[in-house]
Amino acid sequence: MSTATYARVRVNATSANIGPGFDVLGLCLDSPADVIEVTTDPGEVEVRGRVATSTIPRERRANCATVALAAALKGDPKRVEDSLRWGVRLTKGIPVAGGLGGSAASAVGGALAGWALRGPEGGRLHACRQRDAVANDQILTAALVGEAVAAGAAHLDNVAPALLGGLVAVASPRVPQGPPVVARLPIAPWWLATVTPLQQVSTAHARVLLPKTVPLVDSVAATARSVLLTHALACGDSRLLSEVLEDPLATPARSHLFPWLAVAQAAAVEAGAPALVISGSGPTVVALLQTRAHARSVARQTAAAIVSTGVDATSSIHRVGGGARIEAFE
Ligand code: HSE
Repeated sequence: MSTATYARVRVNATSANIGPGFDVLGLCLDSPADVIEVTTDPGEVEVRGRVATSTIPRERRANCATVALAAALKGDPKRVEDSLRWGVRLTKGIPVAGGLGGSAASAVGGALAGWALRGPEGGRLHACRQRDAVANDQILTAALVGEAVAAGAAHLDNVAPALLGGLVAVASPRVPQGPPVVARLPIAPWWLATVTPLQQVSTAHARVLLPKTVPLVDSVAATARSVLLTHALACGDSRLLSEVLEDPLATPARSHLFPWLAVAQAAAVEAGAPALVISGSGPTVVALLQTRAHARSVARQTAAAIVSTGVDATSSIHRVGGGARIEAFE
C-alpha cells in the first residue's frame, strides 16, 4: 500500500467543443488552474479561492472532486470508506460555471490525488513520476464520475485535456462502465484570447437545452468541420479555421443565454480573429490567434464589445497548457 498521507495536484482550465467539436474536442489552457489538496488525516471539505465559490457543494457526495477521489479508490472499499473522512481543500482559480472546465479540473484533481494515495499503483505512479496509459484511463474514468455529478452528463471533453494537456479528441463512454477513448492531437503554437462575461451558466442546465436529435445535414456539417478543424489547429491555418468554426449543434440551442454573442463575434472578427466561439457551455468565449499582440487586441476589443451591452467581462490571453500534475506527495 501507498504510505503517503498527502497529495497536492494542480489542474489547468480547459476549453471544450472548439466550435463544431461538441463533446468531442477539448483544449488545455496554461491558466487559470485549480489546486486540490488531500490529506488522509480527518478533516473537512474546504473550498476557497479568488473566484466566487459559494455554489460549490461541500457535501462529499455532491462535490465533483470528492466524488472523483472516492471513485479513484474504487476496488479498495476500506479506503473508500476512510476517504469520506479525509481532509480535502479545493483552491479554485478557474471561474465557477464559466465555461473553462472548472468542475472537470476539480474532478481530475480529486481523481489524480486519489490515484496517488491508493496503493500499490499510486506508489508506483509516484516512483515513476509519469502515468502510463492504463493509469490515465483509470484516472479519467474516476474523474468522469465526478464530472457527471457536476455537469449532469459524463462527457470527457474537459476532463481528458485537463488530465493530459494539449488538444484532445474524445469518445465519451456510451455506458458508464465503458472505457474512455481519447487521443492527443497535434497542435500549432496558437495564442488564445478568452473573454469571460460576469455570468454563470450551469452546464447541467445548458445540456437540458440541447435537442435530443439533430438533422442529418447538421450532423454531417459538424463532422466535416470538426475533421477540418483538427487539421487547421495542427497546421496553424487561420483561414481554414475561419471557415470551419461555426457550430451547428449546441450553440443555436443555447444562444439565448448569450444575448451579447453576436456583438462579441463581430468585434472579434473586426479585430482580426478568424472566429469567436463559446467555450464549453459558456459564457466564456475564445478565439485562436497567431501572435500574442493579436490575441491581446482581440481579447480587449471583444471584452469592450460585451461590456458595451451592459454585461461586465474580463479578458486574458493564454498558450496551450500542459496536463494535471502532482505538485506534492508525501
Ligand atoms: N461539451 C460540453 C457541453 C462541455 O458543451 O455541454 C461543457 O463544458
